[in-house]
Amino acid sequence: MPDSYLKVTIFRDERTLARSLAERLASDLALQPRQVLGLATGRTPVRLYHELGTLHAHGRADFSQVVTFNLDEFWGLPPDDPGSYRSFMDVHLFNRVGITPEQVNFLRGDADDADAECERYDRAIASADGIDLQLLGIGTNGHIGFNEPSRELAARTHRVRLKESTRRSNAALFGGDVSRVPTEALSMGMGSILRARRIVLIATGKSKARCVERLLTGPITTKLPASFLQLHSAVEVMLDTAAGEFVHS
Ligand code: F6R
Repeated sequence: MPDSYLKVTIFRDERTLARSLAERLASDLALQPRQVLGLATGRTPVRLYHELGTLHAHGRADFSQVVTFNLDEFWGLPPDDPGSYRSFMDVHLFNRVGITPEQVNFLRGDADDADAECERYDRAIASADGIDLQLLGIGTNGHIGFNEPSRELAARTHRVRLKESTRRSNAALFGGDVSRVPTEALSMGMGSILRARRIVLIATGKSKARCVERLLTGPITTKLPASFLQLHSAVEVMLDTAAGEFVHS
């Protein structure tokens, strides 16, 4: 495999990856407690969030000065809907590490006007002086946030129609019923993501191996939105052995 522009680290398994990243984030916070964190939802970061919860419970991860921005939210859902990404974050991270609502920035899926809501979010990121560390997962089709493969990608926060495959992979949040998964979402755009000062993408499991291989070695193309990460100078890709099966050192 040709060298990748991106820094890649492969861990024995998902748990080792989550622990290592959680320890690193906690040490970073000890050195620089006021950080703007860009966060992702989905299956992949759940272990990491739980590890951070454990470190916090042992007094080893202080989130009291952190400001957060999440990548995306389903359009049409209020924040307290059990299927919303906001609810997901409350359950898996915010409530576990003592992040209060005042520290949290989230796209409102129940806003009156989607465009105005997206503009508000971009302004909020700018007034926080940008994102220090953006955490990303990757969809099997190469999406990041809800920037789905297409002929062109939006730079800014925008409203997006979700691919059926993306709706299917979110069905668990809606009792396994894909028909209840909203058809649209609001998502940070590629420009907003690439403006983050540092980016960590995590991918685990065999189902991610192909998109990870394309991310690391393929051309930069709107057909694989994650490939644009090759243009960023401070990206780290953290994989378990299954997701990194095509990566040879
Ligand atoms: C969610 C997000 C998505 C997920 C991606 C992978 O906030 O940004 O891009 O990271 O769909 O999802 P999982 O981790 O469930 O495989």
